Amino acid sequence: MLEFDRTRIKKTIMPDVLDQHQFRYRDNEADAPSAAELYCEDVKLSTLADEFGTPLYVYSKRQILENFRAFSSTLALAKDPKYPGIGHYVSYAAKANTNIEVMKLLAAEGAGADVVSAGELLVALAAGFPAEKITFDGTGKTDKEIELALRAHIHAFNVESLDELKVINEIAEQMGVRAKVSIRVNPDVDAKSHPYISTGLRENKFGIDMESASEAFIYARSHRSLEVVGIHVHIGSQITTLDPFIKAAKSTVAFVNKLRLETGITLEHLNFGGGQGIHYRNVVRHPLLAPDEMGDEKDVFPSLGEFVHAVLPILNKSGLSIIMEPGRAIVANSCTLLGRVLYTKSNSLKKFVIVDTGMTELIRPCLYDAYHQVAPTSLAKERANEVVDIVGPICETSDFLAQKRTLPELRRGDVVAILCAGAYGYTLASNYNLRPRAAEILVDGSEYRVIRERENLEDVAGLTESDRALVRTLVTETRENVG
Ligand SMILES: Cc1ncc(COP(=O)(O)O)c(C=O)c1O
Repeated sequence: MLEFDRTRIKKTIMPDVLDQHQFRYRDNEADAPSAAELYCEDVKLSTLADEFGTPLYVYSKRQILENFRAFSSTLALAKDPKYPGIGHYVSYAAKANTNIEVMKLLAAEGAGADVVSAGELLVALAAGFPAEKITFDGTGKTDKEIELALRAHIHAFNVESLDELKVINEIAEQMGVRAKVSIRVNPDVDAKSHPYISTGLRENKFGIDMESASEAFIYARSHRSLEVVGIHVHIGSQITTLDPFIKAAKSTVAFVNKLRLETGITLEHLNFGGGQGIHYRNVVRHPLLAPDEMGDEKDVFPSLGEFVHAVLPILNKSGLSIIMEPGRAIVANSCTLLGRVLYTKSNSLKKFVIVDTGMTELIRPCLYDAYHQVAPTSLAKERANEVVDIVGPICETSDFLAQKRTLPELRRGDVVAILCAGAYGYTLASNYNLRPRAAEILVDGSEYRVIRERENLEDVAGLTESDRALVRTLVTETRENVG
């Protein structure tokens, strides 16, 4: 059994680090217009909304670094003395957030990167991730993407089918190189997350089922242009119980050991994927803000320390280096999406608060029925609580950010913060309704800078130079007519 001090992990990782959120209310002096203001580190969020406009994504540099360090130091603490020399490392799942400035922070910390497209690979290389720490994932890699990854000398492809393995072999052969491969297995484990973000069941398209996976390993071993280096498993995202992880770890390790015994194939690493769930409720608190009725996830979720304590001793039995591939756990709570209230309206059933951000900036509530805390950036002194739906301006019924939430009365012009928008926020953003993608700001202490500009409306609309010239005359003429 792996030996490390569980209380030490609990104390050092939780709650001191992961729960210490960089978005917090600060109370104002008694004579100030508002009772409290929400800050990102030392910067007032309402100031950023005024300066850069809304919608706006605001990131805390400190939070990103703390999350990453918590993860990698927990893994390091949990190294097994029985297997000296085996390195465990964190490979950031870029799909969660591909802003190059965010990626640069993680590359500088020594993270690896898991990418799923040529675009993500280019950003990872440009951000400074060493090629030997980049893995390429995904069920549908194109020939061009495979060739690009081979030219970049990445660490390994996480291969999802025998067909794909054959194509990688052919391309590597033509290029006269050896492709390092890791086979992704499907352990048929229910992650008990939302069905759209569960990937480890036989009915899901991911990986090769355990019964056929040996064939892929044997194929890889018997082809000179392939070098089989690892095994990969990822059962889903926002997983909030230990059981699925434990099951997946046990069956993967049993598979590795059987493979070694039956075929003599030895591997270098076991990539256990990502999927660690994070807290979305009651992330920011204040006496003037009603806590969510569902209570704190903290009371029911396993902590990172508990996850590592439960899973690593099992994984270590493979005798392989362990790679973990978290995305959400590194970036989700590092970002708040800001929107401004446009209108409110009520009917006999409910009250709607219509804000200027919605499913185009954060599709998770619509796509996965996901919960995000919504909170005003300024807490006024005398506003009664009411139950409201926070909805966006997009022409879809599914365009909501929060439903049936108890919040202090919101009025036109108020700014709201939608918490934990850093993972699968901007990366899933769209131009639907021809809306430009919002700007991204990185806060570092009391300083901040734009890390991606707001898109230009005329570019998003696909206007040519002559279209632009025409539109400008039309808009001017209309104004003159109105005047
Ligand atoms: C293969 C793989 N690894 C890692 C991740 C990251 O998952 P999470 O952001 O939940 O940690 C994903 C997410 O879809 C994935 O598909």
